[in-house]
Amino acid sequence: MSFSIERYKEESKKLDTAGIDWEAATSSPLSNGDLFCLHYMMDIENHVPLYLSHLLVTRACMDPILTAFLACWNYEELWHGENIGKFLNLYGIEFDIQDRIANVRAHLGVQNSISLMSTMVGSWLLKDFSAVYLTIGAINELATLTGYGALIRKSGHPVLRDLLGRIIKDERRHFAFYFNSAKEWLTDNEKAQRMDRWMLNRVWVPVGQGVKTQEEVDALALYLFDDEQGEEELLALDEKIGKLPGLAGIKLMSKALYAARDRRSKNPGWASRLIENEEWAIAPAKKSAIGELTTRRARGGDPATDALEVM
Ligand SMILES: [Fe+2]
Ligand SMILES: [Fe+2]
Repeated sequence: MSFSIERYKEESKKLDTAGIDWEAATSSPLSNGDLFCLHYMMDIENHVPLYLSHLLVTRACMDPILTAFLACWNYEELWHGENIGKFLNLYGIEFDIQDRIANVRAHLGVQNSISLMSTMVGSWLLKDFSAVYLTIGAINELATLTGYGALIRKSGHPVLRDLLGRIIKDERRHFAFYFNSAKEWLTDNEKAQRMDRWMLNRVWVPVGQGVKTQEEVDALALYLFDDEQGEEELLALDEKIGKLPGLAGIKLMSKALYAARDRRSKNPGWASRLIENEEWAIAPAKKSAIGELTTRRARGGDPATDALEVM
């Protein structure tokens, strides 16, 4: 698996959706589980700019190759979230995507700032901190594309197969960058390997956790992977990450699945109740900085029209 940053810069572009049969969005029914996963995935794709804010305060951003990648990567991820939102709207679920993104962010609270500051401090104190988030980047991209593959399989929806199939191709390139960069950092660097393994075993959480609750993460994991094929896919994912120097035999995603099963066995109804009760709407936060920062929302008018009025 190779990756060329020069080629990536040249070829990086907005997701090509030409030829997707959007009108067939309603042709095939989706289960509550499919819809739950699509909302989760859309929210996490749309969270990328905030995740990026964590990366940009680290010492790794002194590296122009990393910042060139992040510039293109962030743009590509934007269109993943936008297109999943478009699909859900066309399927008949009504929401304003900008309002939803704002509401998700309004719920983050002070924990987001604490996490941002600790990432910044950690990266400047520990030289090999970069290895950790490059590895986490690789796990996140691989978990994301594995999740999309599982959702294609579970839903059997033709439009989703086409849309998510295209998104998966982007995620594969993202994975290749993170994996190769992590490998480069970890090769012949035992200190970095030890720290990477230690941190992954203690602080790593599945993609989306923090924005989503433990129960929401479990609901997604159990819906997509709680069968023989799903479990095998997560074990294969761990095996791939275990090929990084110093990470042989590491268990992350499969461990997260087993922990989710464990929580469910102690608490019947855990996770599945979110899916049964269709709990995927995001309530507006009681107190949000959005209105204070952008007057267009505080006025309660149409954001698009208001933006034009300002111009
Ligand atoms: Fe994505
Ligand atoms: Fe990605």
